[in-house]
Amino acid sequence: MEAAILEEFGSKLSVKEQPTPEPGEGELLVKIKASGINPVDAKLAHGYMKDRLPHEFPMILGWDMAGIVEKRGHGARRFSVGDEVYAYARRPELNNHGTFADYITIPESYLAKKPINISFEEAGAIPLAGLTAYQSILEVGKLKLGDTVMILGASGGVGSFAVQLAKYEGAQVIAVASKDNHAYLKELGADHCLDYKDQKIEEVIWDIAPEGVDLVFDAVGGDTTLQGARCLKEGGRLVSITHKGDGLPDHIDFHYVFTEPNSRQLDHIREMVEAGTLKVKITKAYRLDDINDALEQIETGHTTGKIIVKM
Ligand SMILES: NC(=O)c1ccc[n+]([C@@H]2O[C@H](COP(=O)([O-])OP(=O)(O)OC[C@H]3O[C@@H](n4cnc5c(N)ncnc54)[C@H](OP(=O)(O)O)[C@@H]3O)[C@@H](O)[C@H]2O)c1
Repeated sequence: MEAAILEEFGSKLSVKEQPTPEPGEGELLVKIKASGINPVDAKLAHGYMKDRLPHEFPMILGWDMAGIVEKRGHGARRFSVGDEVYAYARRPELNNHGTFADYITIPESYLAKKPINISFEEAGAIPLAGLTAYQSILEVGKLKLGDTVMILGASGGVGSFAVQLAKYEGAQVIAVASKDNHAYLKELGADHCLDYKDQKIEEVIWDIAPEGVDLVFDAVGGDTTLQGARCLKEGGRLVSITHKGDGLPDHIDFHYVFTEPNSRQLDHIREMVEAGTLKVKITKAYRLDDINDALEQIETGHTTGKIIVKM
């Protein structure tokens, strides 16, 4: 099979022939059709997370995928050959066998059926970003009907799902991103859009939410997290996927989320996609040979919606 491999931290990926893996006990061999590109892929390539995630070289990067079940290992019985599936494929033990490849072997407990009404490209863009928004907004953030939520980084991969999930829960959504993305955010359902470039969000928020917001979901980090904290109402919650909480006032109900694979939640997301509640915007599809261009784009920190690589 062809795969984009990393041979040392800090180097570019190179597309090379690699042995096609054999599914082990309880595993499936999946023919990958598309894989979402996420900021973490570039961070891993630079070695920023090398102490946290076990690895060996050569590494095949990539944690997102949609594809077709091609072979079942001994004991695997939940899916059939030919089933169309999607998954967040990060494994806790070793991060070598990622999704920027023609094939992956993966325990079937990671997989869910792909939504039937969207392409493999759209489905491959969902798992990591979709689960991150789901776990942050619904599970940890406990957003409920009538709450007001401020989403920092609303137009990116995670933010786009967060806006839609928050609307699905019946919340009032204040989306923060640059002005060029405001029309897109309105299409996703945002009630108010704020541009972080030409104003201070902690100064203008009071016109929209006079008591402050119930939940801040932060997909940006740094000083932006601290600004978001100042927009909370008393007792409000701050959920971040980028900030560990250093420097925040003690009274803030703060939670850091590191997204976990969860096929039950992917099933729920599939239902929402099939019902038309959740949409995916693909801004650009890359070929595997152009994987380094895709990583460069995601590193800008200004990608709208999702970008993917097609196998
Ligand atoms: N902890 C976890 O499990 C986890 C999971 C997924 C992602 N993450 C992290 O979360 C971050 C976001 O991920 P992503 O996939 O959504 O990234 P992305 O697709 O690159 O989106 C980033 C978005 O942030 C917006 N942005 C940049 N600076 C901003 C600012 N100062 N204020 C408000 N918005 C700003 C950009 O909008 P404009 O172009 O309009 O500026 C862009 O749409 C990354 O750092 C990623 O590594 C963590």
